[in-house]
Amino acid sequence: MATTTDKITVSSLQSKKERGQKICMLTAYDYPTAVLQDEAGLDVILVGDSVGTNVLGYRGPQQVTMDDILHHLRAVRRAVRRAFLLADLPFMSFQPSVETAVKNAGRLVQEGGAEGVKLEGGLPVLPQLKAIVDAGIPVVGHLGFTPQSQAREFYLFSDRRGTVPKFHGKGPKGAKALVEQALRLEDAGVFSLVLEMVTEEAAQAVTERLKIPVIGIGAGRYCDGQVLIVHDLVGLNEEDLILTKAYGQTRQAWIEMFKTYCREVAEGSFPTAENAAHMAPEKRAQLDQLLNDNGKNR
Ligand code: KIV
Repeated sequence: MATTTDKITVSSLQSKKERGQKICMLTAYDYPTAVLQDEAGLDVILVGDSVGTNVLGYRGPQQVTMDDILHHLRAVRRAVRRAFLLADLPFMSFQPSVETAVKNAGRLVQEGGAEGVKLEGGLPVLPQLKAIVDAGIPVVGHLGFTPQSQAREFYLFSDRRGTVPKFHGKGPKGAKALVEQALRLEDAGVFSLVLEMVTEEAAQAVTERLKIPVIGIGAGRYCDGQVLIVHDLVGLNEEDLILTKAYGQTRQAWIEMFKTYCREVAEGSFPTAENAAHMAPEKRAQLDQLLNDNGKNR
């Protein structure tokens, strides 16, 4: 039986599926958040390309670069002790060729400290996926809604952020095709699969047929685990999407704290004497004396 201090590995995630224990995964993009997540006992921490829209103010994931991911991955790496640390291969870091994919997956491991990489897409990226697995790097697949390949849904050059997500696997043919793609990915050697915005029924069909753990986001109750974007979970984002759940309302709480701070600075109630360091009274008297003497000498 795994204890909360046991390091999470590919095989402990697999054991969780076999024992019917749910896997808990969240995104993180910075050191303090990852420290808290690791302490809270998360199984998997993902430095996702959602860093673009959630942290960097980008319009969509297509703007996220390898340098962006590596920068945030290194910060998260410094924090994570127990959880399995996963990183996204961003747009154009694996699509152009098998060589590019292996090279960039290797960079995430060697330069960023990732323990595994995730890449979006099905059959078109199967050669890349296989080659990364063959290079000895643990790989997570990502099917259903795959934001990187849905450029038309994004608003890269306008003020609108994000996307209009569509559910996958609404009909029997689509759901069957999804199951088939998932099986191909499993055969190619992925050790886990993320399903994003997939009907609960289709996600259940995939989860029951795959030996590897299936992690859902907007994919219903029957996946082997769940993943959320941390900013959605803490209620920092404005949008309220069906696929997420806010466990608190941090956004409004932060705005209130910023407002209160500004008001207190403006009215002089912050800082108080308790927020300051003080000279001993006799030193203060000496200072006054010195300043007065200097004044006289001028
Ligand atoms: O980038 C990301 O955060 C993701 C999750 C939605 C799984 O890929």
